[in-house]
Amino acid sequence: MHPCPAHTLLDLDVFARGTPRDTIDRLREQHRILWEPDGFATGGHWLLFRQEDIDHVLKTPELFSSGFGPLLDDFPPELLVEQQKSMTFMDPPLHRKYRGLVDHAFRLKSLEAREGGMRRIATGIVDTVIDKGRCEFISEVATQLPMRVMYDLLGVEVADYRYVADLTNTLALADDPDFAENRAAGFHASLALIEFGTRLAADHRRNARDSLTMEVLGAEIDGERITDREFGCMFNNLIVGGMETTRNTLALGIHQFILQPDQYRLLEQDPELVPAAVEEILRYRNTVIYLRRTATKDLELAGEQIRKGDKLVCILGAPNRDPDFFEEPDRFDIRRPLQNTRKHYRTFGQGGHYCVGVHQARLNLKVMLEEIIRRMTNFRLLAEPRYARSIFMDGFKEMHVAFDKR
Ligand code: HEM
Repeated sequence: MHPCPAHTLLDLDVFARGTPRDTIDRLREQHRILWEPDGFATGGHWLLFRQEDIDHVLKTPELFSSGFGPLLDDFPPELLVEQQKSMTFMDPPLHRKYRGLVDHAFRLKSLEAREGGMRRIATGIVDTVIDKGRCEFISEVATQLPMRVMYDLLGVEVADYRYVADLTNTLALADDPDFAENRAAGFHASLALIEFGTRLAADHRRNARDSLTMEVLGAEIDGERITDREFGCMFNNLIVGGMETTRNTLALGIHQFILQPDQYRLLEQDPELVPAAVEEILRYRNTVIYLRRTATKDLELAGEQIRKGDKLVCILGAPNRDPDFFEEPDRFDIRRPLQNTRKHYRTFGQGGHYCVGVHQARLNLKVMLEEIIRRMTNFRLLAEPRYARSIFMDGFKEMHVAFDKR
């Protein structure tokens, strides 16, 4: 029998009001590992809060597999088989091979070449709202740059933008009735996105064009080309990984600046602080709440007996506010030394699956924030922003703001 804690952490109703950071702080102080009951087939999962334990789990795939994915959900078998063709659900050695097909596109060098294009898109995004003095920040601003960057890179046609964005929302926010009528709708959206990626691959084979899709289709794994369906799974992985996360981070950042206008003023006075501000937002308001791994055998971890098939759930925001690594961790301060922040937060995970899009995410956020502080000031909330209902991703589904022109 597992010891039963007096409360639960991963409660949808609680997370629907934002990540309960105080509870996470308290749990990190009190527990190294904690069993929490849940409604899934295993009846519960282990929560981990300390950086060293999280690192151990994320860096040891032979004991803690990604094969069942990073979510708590038990996927229906027909969907699991499909998902296991995407990087996030793979373990070494196959994982490295698939990752090797795309990682060059996200290296710093490749991104430098794309920065000018990103900046033009960012200027255009601010152009669309600047004269109105108000906007719904999520759909009109935050979503736009990551979406356009991913679409350009993968060769998605303008006519399909909306379709792909809607599927991504349904799938990432399947617990929110505004986006999906039930969890099954989320699973279906995932399949539809894989199918869209499959059609995109076929279309690229017929009408060759310059894109990452074209490159991946031309590459080989162990002497074999990847199939259209395999590409579809990779497409799903890239789109889901890149869009929701980056948009949430930007919106959470602007929200934090509204709560602390003195920090925004610092940025306006010294735009050189933008890279450090990006890191502080990523630390303080990390969007991916947890990563799950699955034990491949019976073993001991942090003094507890773990059984084969148990779920290990790494709470990424816990090390982000650990006083062992950050002075006054519950204070948002964009003047923190950037290198220390990057070294100790776990916002992008750790180990072999460490976010492949990390440089793109940082550059997106930097470019967008630079454009925003250059032209927009005095942000105000027109209504309380509405959190999306999710225990996996912290973020807003709606944030109406007003602002002045600079
Ligand atoms: C602020 C923005 C972002 C955050 C917080 C974030 C977070 C993460 C995290 C925590 C993981 C680890 C998943 C795991 O270990 O199972 C991950 C993996 C991944 N991310 Fe990101 N991500 C961001 C932006 C992006 C972007 C812009 C892309 C676009 C390419 C991207 C693509 C991916 C992919 C494909 C993976 C899977 C890598 C693998 O399994 O090897 N992410 N991301």
